[in-house]
Amino acid sequence: MILFPVTALLVLLPVMVSAAIFPPGTKVKMLDPKGFQRAMRSNKTSVVAFVAPWCGHCQRMAPEYSKAAESLSPLIPFYAVDCDAEVNKRLCGEQGVQGFPTLKVFPRGSLAPPEPYESGERTSINFIRWASRSVPNKVTSLPRVYDIPAWLDRKSDLPRIILLNRDKKFPLLWQVLANNYWKKLAFGHHSDPDGTFAASLGFNATVEGKTSKVIVYPAGSSVPVLYEGTTKYEPLAKFFRSILDGSADFLQTLPEQSVRDEL
Ligand SMILES: *[C@@H]1O[C@H](CO)[C@@H](O)[C@H](O)[C@H]1NC(C)=O
Ligand SMILES: *[C@@H]1O[C@H](CO)[C@@H](O)[C@H](O)[C@H]1NC(C)=O
Repeated sequence: MILFPVTALLVLLPVMVSAAIFPPGTKVKMLDPKGFQRAMRSNKTSVVAFVAPWCGHCQRMAPEYSKAAESLSPLIPFYAVDCDAEVNKRLCGEQGVQGFPTLKVFPRGSLAPPEPYESGERTSINFIRWASRSVPNKVTSLPRVYDIPAWLDRKSDLPRIILLNRDKKFPLLWQVLANNYWKKLAFGHHSDPDGTFAASLGFNATVEGKTSKVIVYPAGSSVPVLYEGTTKYEPLAKFFRSILDGSADFLQTLPEQSVRDEL
């Protein structure tokens, strides 16, 4: 009777110990080989720490790594693999892990070579900088209004999405989304501080105090649609998925277009 619980405990023990190096409630997700494959297939920029629960450097790094994971969630996922666990030994070998911790950023899942962490002290600030800088930039900057039509034309086989904001630069959020949907959606950025360009499309200068706008040109169309949801990662990602699977509301009521580029 006592035999079963003891066996169960022995099976569970390695998992509990490895999870314990990260603080409770951490955004760092432990991966097994299947989870690792899934993370790589998503094509997202993600960070993986290869650790061992007994390693002092790993224990010291864990709160900083966890803080960075929290700051960058949900834009850049932070993962960890416990290389002490039997199930992960092969994965850690394939990843060339020779010491702990080994940190790698994967800029685009398995489609781009990973880069090791070589940015000095293992602090959350350094982790955040390193991970953010590693996101490939697939956003096209459209500084002048007259850059926009040519870009729309060039990419007309894809849905095209333009962020209009007040800044000269686009935020990490936009860079991350452009990377996640690369070759499926085309991302542009235009600085429109006083809303002139938006107004020229018939989208009024300010909507409920929002300072940025997201406009979408469906594939093959030159008629823009204003995105009316929240400009955060999850709602935007949901919206983009609905464009890709054809379920977005505006795709059902797309205006008829006569010959393009003619009055
Ligand atoms: C990842 O990228 C590949 C190659 O570009 C593509 O075929 C695949 O659909 C992408 N996966 C996801 C989840 O976007
Ligand atoms: C947009 O602004 C114009 C004036 O610039 C105004 O006439 C119009 O009613 C506004 N439309 C909406 C939907 O607020």
